[in-house]
Amino acid sequence: MIITIDGPAAAGKGTLARALAAKYGLAYFDTGMVYRAVGLQMLLNQNNADDEKAAETYAKNLTFPLMIQLSEHPDFRSAKGGKAASIVSAYPSVRKALLKMQQDFALNPVFKDGTPAHGVIYDGRDTGTVVCPQADVKFFITASSEVRALRRYKEFQEKGIEISYDEVLKDVKARDERDATRASSPMKPAEDAVIFDTSELNIEEVLQKACHLIDSWQKKLEK
Ligand code: C5P
Repeated sequence: MIITIDGPAAAGKGTLARALAAKYGLAYFDTGMVYRAVGLQMLLNQNNADDEKAAETYAKNLTFPLMIQLSEHPDFRSAKGGKAASIVSAYPSVRKALLKMQQDFALNPVFKDGTPAHGVIYDGRDTGTVVCPQADVKFFITASSEVRALRRYKEFQEKGIEISYDEVLKDVKARDERDATRASSPMKPAEDAVIFDTSELNIEEVLQKACHLIDSWQKKLEK
């Protein structure tokens, strides 16, 4: 079984993806990590954000172990790291170089400890449209920019990261703009995706609706 969950930053994709992965025993691929890994290398090596060639080189040389190693760095999930990821993700050459790594995961999905899984949940911006258009069940999770900025702001506060709500909101809006307008694979719901707006639904409600759809899909297969 392959499930894709796309949508803008802080819409609740990760929470839903982890809950579904646990319930259905699926491996989980947070595809934002590949862009964060490239963005972080740009920061660490002091490359200019507009140096697409450097970003492409990091993307071409990215491996799973390197991505996991980079994910331990404090800036991997910081606001600075998120901005760097968003910038490099708009480069068509970077997206092209990172596509196979994301697609290959569905051929041999594994859990964190390396044991094989019988399916995968992708979470990202273009996983239902570009990475895995053949997915069995697709979701697109969204929420207003204010609701999402407040969630991100609270997460940063919990982690002790100093940043104001206004700065987070500005960053969320800038990222949305880049995600929606980039030339290569802009963020949009797949035609066959089910859309949830989490400004009005809490995670329990979204999870319940998502499980209902997955169970119906599984029942149809059994018939
Ligand atoms: O989801 P996350 O915030 O970790 O993603 C980091 C950045 O990577 C996002 O701002 C987005 O621009 C980009 N991204 C993307 N396509 C994906 C996943 C993430 O362009 N499939």
